[in-house]
Amino acid sequence: MIRIFNSTEDLARFFALHLETLMTKNAESGPFSIALSGGSTPKKIFDHLAANCRNTIDWNRLLVFWGDERCVPPGDNESNFRMAREALLDHVPVPSINIFRIHGEHAPVPESKRYSDLVMEKVPLKDNIPAFDLLMLGLGDDGHTASIFPDSMHLLISDKLFEVSENPYSGQKRITATGKIINHAKNVVFLVTGKAKAEVAARVIEKREGWETLPASMVYPENGELLWLLDREAALKLDNSKHHE
Ligand code: 6PG
Repeated sequence: MIRIFNSTEDLARFFALHLETLMTKNAESGPFSIALSGGSTPKKIFDHLAANCRNTIDWNRLLVFWGDERCVPPGDNESNFRMAREALLDHVPVPSINIFRIHGEHAPVPESKRYSDLVMEKVPLKDNIPAFDLLMLGLGDDGHTASIFPDSMHLLISDKLFEVSENPYSGQKRITATGKIINHAKNVVFLVTGKAKAEVAARVIEKREGWETLPASMVYPENGELLWLLDREAALKLDNSKHHE
């Protein structure tokens, strides 16, 4: 399913309603596990949620995880946790015991194992694999998603839940969800804005030439819903006759 919005604000408003709907749908099954993404688009969504949804979302039910993290301390400008804390978590009543950040300040390989074990313990399993209720993903202009870059496609078929990756442009170490857990989520939402993403979004969504070399193309939740939320700029190169407005 693809939804195209006139503005990031409209996209954020839709995302908030979608989150509320999903949480209401699974209200009896207790906690709702969400894996946050980094990047500029999610930040706009977090700002919207913090400003408008304090009383419309049952924040107490959320278990907050990350789909990826940069291997930096939690106060670093590069930290996905810091971005989410400043834009959202400091403004809504998610109990701090329900916030499970990736320890970017620790040695990457042991941390990727610790986090895999933590998610295994905290997120309800489906076929013995943790199934996030909602997993947010961004799309890099090189087709990366989470922190799975085109030169690390093997992470899509890893038998681990989280692994160490590396930003090939900066050499920065990352910890990322692998295809195993991404494609096991109940709901996966891609959040894509800006004209810089138009070409790659079209390549992935419409399986254009070279699509199979892009990590984002390999996101397909086996038993879940895949939803693309794009603004008009990011959707510029889509063949609009095929997609929902
Ligand atoms: C990260 C993100 C990354 C991001 C894309 C898109 O840690 O950087 O997980 O995958 O989602 O790079 O980022 P923008 O939304 O800022 O374009």
